Order: sequence, then structure tokens, then C-alpha cells
Amino acid sequence: MLTTAEARPKMLPALALAERAAAVLRDNDTGSLVTAAPRLYPHMWSWDAAFIAIGLAQLDTGRAVAELDTLLAAQWRDGMIPHIVFTSATGYFPGPDRWGTDTAPQRPRHVRTSGICQPPVHAIALRRIVDVARRKSRADAELAEGFATGVWQRLYRWHRWIARYRIVDASGLVAIVHGWESGMDNSPRWDEPYARVVPGADLPPYARLDLLAVDDPAERPSDDDYRRYLWLIEQLRRVNYQPDHAVNTSDFLVGDTFTTALFSLACDVLAELGEELTSERDQVAELRQWAGQARRAVALSRRPDSGMAADRDIRQGNWIATPTLAGFSPLLCGGAGRRAEADLLSTMDSSDWSGHPDLFAAVVPSVSPRARQFDRCRYWRGPQWPVLAWLFSWAFERRGWTSRAAELRTQGLRLTADGSFGEYYEPFTGRPLGSTNQSWTAAVVLDWLATGRPSPR
Ligand code: SER
Repeated sequence: MLTTAEARPKMLPALALAERAAAVLRDNDTGSLVTAAPRLYPHMWSWDAAFIAIGLAQLDTGRAVAELDTLLAAQWRDGMIPHIVFTSATGYFPGPDRWGTDTAPQRPRHVRTSGICQPPVHAIALRRIVDVARRKSRADAELAEGFATGVWQRLYRWHRWIARYRIVDASGLVAIVHGWESGMDNSPRWDEPYARVVPGADLPPYARLDLLAVDDPAERPSDDDYRRYLWLIEQLRRVNYQPDHAVNTSDFLVGDTFTTALFSLACDVLAELGEELTSERDQVAELRQWAGQARRAVALSRRPDSGMAADRDIRQGNWIATPTLAGFSPLLCGGAGRRAEADLLSTMDSSDWSGHPDLFAAVVPSVSPRARQFDRCRYWRGPQWPVLAWLFSWAFERRGWTSRAAELRTQGLRLTADGSFGEYYEPFTGRPLGSTNQSWTAAVVLDWLATGRPSPR
């Protein structure tokens, strides 16, 4: 193995790193949206956009709210926020023609989108934008609060869509109909349910384009994975993306504990914003109820042996307990009880996870380096993802675990300080993988760098 010194370029000082991160967001900005990455992802992705808005909030409140506005303008009429909002760029597959959402009656009319969703982190972004703006100036605060008040209903409708269409079994977990909806496309969490997805002989032909944009195909999902991804799209397209039909027909239907924890957190955050900025008492009460139900579902998904949260294969009726970072979901939303949380935190610190002696930075990897499924380079099967470190650091701060939050920021910055803004990182060398100049990585770096700095006023 390369030594750390050989593998990594010099770490940039904070100011240079912040300048470079801001340049990435500027360079990826098409004017109305910041693409997820320059080559691999030339469109807007739902959860990327939320993190990107968090980074933009450090640079320009108006630009940050415009980013969320662009995403929310693509909201489907039933409330779903689609996982991709397409630009006119070519070179990404599956593009809008393959998704074929143009005949779905609930689609937005002015823009083309995919037909599935991604984790509901948008209220968290809105909260962060408002908090950052309030520390900047009265004008920034007014702008952010005015925007938040204006879009609050749209986010409420998004959360209502999840509560209405995606809580489908007694586990109470938020169900996903495609691994892409988890954001963790090829995580070993989905190996078992995907093993039962058998692409039909009538799957239309296709050519992958993602492999052209990375150094090594081993950093991306396999061809077998892709056939299944495309087959699920085909199934959803055939029911016109109707949400009730989608959960009945998709071969893949899994209660996602991590998405459920984010849903719980986001419902609480949106309820708080509603209390601060609106007079919507009934809707706030509903959000609190959904938050509580989701929190309980995550706590109940913990496996007795490890204490870690698990996903539920709804089609099979069994738990999927793979050693991935989703197991730490209860730490995001609470509800497991103090003792269980203390145990989970020591598991996170242990040599199976962030305390593994060979890690370049003590950031929780997507899969335990000691697990048989661990693959140090392949996307969600081992690498470290700065955005997830950000989520845990933000949630830990919110829960009052200040020194843990600060340590995660320090380690996240160690991972990203070379200024390449990798999509994800090889845990032992800290080598950037996937795309470089990935917008959401630049965004969370900007937020981390600003946190703890004295207020500009
Ligand atoms: N993350 C997926 C991709 O790799 C799509 O959401 O294209």
C-alpha cells in the first residue's frame, strides 16, 4: 500500500481550500442550478441540491435560496421531489427519454425529471440557510426567512407524500422502490433484495456512460447492478410512476432505515421552521407526529446482537442487517434511548469503524473495513463520503454533542483538504474517487470551514 505521504498531495490551508471550494460551485453553476459534478453528473440531483444550497449559503444567501427554488419548481403535483432535474446536457445515462416521465400525469410541465425520489434532506438545508443568514445580516435573514415562509408548504407537501405513499408496512420505515432512492446506489444493504430482481428479456438495450467519466470502472457499480437498476426503471415507467402502483409492482421494496431517520429529523426541522415562521398549527402537529413515528421505526429496526439499525426487505418480510453506516441511523434522529446511543457511539469509535487503525481520516466509512462486503474503491461499498460525515456532524451539533461534532468536522476537513473535492474517498489512503470537483463535497467543506469561525458581523 502507498504511504499516506506518497498517496496524498499537500493539504491546503483553510483560506485556499475555501477559495477552491467556492470556485467549484461557481464553475458548476449553469445560472439556474449547480450541477452535481462537471462530467459524471451534468444535471441537478435532489439531495445533492440540498447540500449544494448549504454551501452556497456561505457565499450568497440569494444564490442558495435560488438553488432550492429551482429544485422545488420541479416538484411533482402529488408532492414528490424528483431525484433528477434534467438540464439540456447530454452525456448522462439514463437521461430523460429513458425515464419517460413525460406521460406521468403528476409530472411538472416545464421541466423534465426522473420518476423516483431521494432522501428528504431539504428541510435541513432550509434550516441551515436560515441559520447562516441570520448570522450574516438583517437583509440576509429577511431574504432567507421570506423564502422559507414561501416554500414551507411545498416542503410540507413533500413530507406528506412520503408519509402517505411510502410508509407501507408495520415496520413504519420509509419504503424505497429503487436503490437509487436511498442515494446509496450499490450499498451492500441492497444486495439481497437486488438478488431477487430479475431483469426481463424485454429490457430495452442501453449503453452505460458513467464508466467513461471515472478513472477505473471498479469505482462504480457493476454491469449486473446496472441491469437491475434499469429494469426497475422499466417497471416504474410501465405504471407511469403512479406512487400507489409503484409500491405494488416494483420488484424492489425495502424499508430504508437511514432515509427514515432523515425523514424524522427533517420533519422535526420543518415543524420548527413552521413554528417560527408560519401559523400552520395543524400541519406542524402532523409533522411532529410523522417525526415521532419515524423515530420509533428506526429505534425498533435495531438488531438485538449489534444494536445497529437495519433495513426491512418488505417483499420478503425479513430484516437486512449489513454492517454499513446506515446502522448508525438512530444517532441522527434519536429515540433509541441513552444507553443504546452510548453503545452505538462506542461502536462508531471502535476499530471496526472510524477507529480503524489504517484509516487516513477518522470518518465513518460506508461499510465497515472489517466486513466481508467491504470494497475500498467501489462507490457505496467502502469509501468515505464527506456529505455523510457532514450529516452526522450537523446532527451531533444539534443534539448537543458539540465536541463530537467538532471532531467530525476536523476529520472531514482532513479527508478533503487536498482540494480535489472527490465524490468519495478511499479510506486508507484518502485518495479521491469517482468524480472530482463534486459540488456537494465542495459545499460541505465550505460549511465546515465557516463553522466555528467568528460571525462576520
Ligand atoms: N447516483 C446515480 C448515478 O450514479 C443516479 O442517481 O447515476
